[in-house]
Amino acid sequence: MRQVGIGTSGLRAGALGFGCWRFLGHELSHAENLVETALDLGMTLIDTADIYGFGGDGFGAAEVLLGKVLKADPARRTRMVLATKGGIIPPAPYNSSRKYLIEACEASLARLGVEQIDLYQIHRPDLLTPWEEVADALEMLLADGKIGAAGVSNFSVAQTRALQAHLGPKLVSTQPEFSALHLAPLEDGTLDWCQEVGAAALVWSPLAGGRLADGYRPQPDDPERLVDVHQALDRIAAGHGVSRSEVALAFVLMHPAQPIVLLGTQTPARLKAATRALEIQLSRPDWYSIIEASRGAAMP
Ligand SMILES: NC(=O)c1ccc[n+]([C@@H]2O[C@H](COP(=O)([O-])OP(=O)(O)OC[C@H]3O[C@@H](n4cnc5c(N)ncnc54)[C@H](OP(=O)(O)O)[C@@H]3O)[C@@H](O)[C@H]2O)c1
Repeated sequence: MRQVGIGTSGLRAGALGFGCWRFLGHELSHAENLVETALDLGMTLIDTADIYGFGGDGFGAAEVLLGKVLKADPARRTRMVLATKGGIIPPAPYNSSRKYLIEACEASLARLGVEQIDLYQIHRPDLLTPWEEVADALEMLLADGKIGAAGVSNFSVAQTRALQAHLGPKLVSTQPEFSALHLAPLEDGTLDWCQEVGAAALVWSPLAGGRLADGYRPQPDDPERLVDVHQALDRIAAGHGVSRSEVALAFVLMHPAQPIVLLGTQTPARLKAATRALEIQLSRPDWYSIIEASRGAAMP
């Protein structure tokens, strides 16, 4: 699989990664099969968060399950770039104070049963902690070896730059939502910032949480333009003889920021199918036609 560098961290991971938001309620054997399938396919970045499980199996549940998968075969740890996130006491408040972040990271280490988290991300920006203090907390975690690298998620570019002013090149990644249905990081400067400083973009919900997947039936609360996006993706998919999902993933993968695309499926066969997206080269007119369908407007 195509490898992507993660900023100055020295870490590299496959362009497709495995996301653990929905990694819940599985028998251990299914959980192991999912992680093994992902790693075997080259999806070496495994992204989780301390809050995954909140509202269902409970805060920390996805990390606990991943910890069990690692314990069952410790060699798996060496095959992955282990990424998690902290900073939310669900559903709110957000907390990136020095004390909270350090304790949250230590709790994640304990649930995962590992000595170090490769990439620790602030899940959402805390509006009440000075950026200097957030940077200080991350510096302490780096210095103690509890984390190998630091990133953010759902930050505006201004927030990212403010933290970067204190953390410098040690801020190696950001994690925005990006898909054919959600174009914000193309337009708000996030993907430009990544290219400007050489940081990695870890993209969440590349299939818009399944709404761009094959067979999805639009619901009344879906954006009206979803049907137009489906039509654009389906037209291109028919031309390439591939599925709608694969074109939707190819659309994200083709961006020059070279994102790491976090897949949410909990179905091994769908993980495998997703790798076909790496082989698809969309033409410039086709790529822009997806933007036009999503915006509901022709390019200016
Ligand atoms: N930083 C953040 O705030 C944030 C927020 C959300 C997510 N994330 C990260 O992003 C990851 C991915 O998010 P996501 O789960 O919303 O991703 P997604 O890939 O956009 O959506 C996955 C969903 O689509 C469904 N699906 C239906 N048909 C599919 C097909 N043909 N191929 C693939 N999936 C299909 C999956 O169901 P099946 O399981 O039945 O296949 C699953 O429910 C998360 O696990 C997490 O790591 C981060």
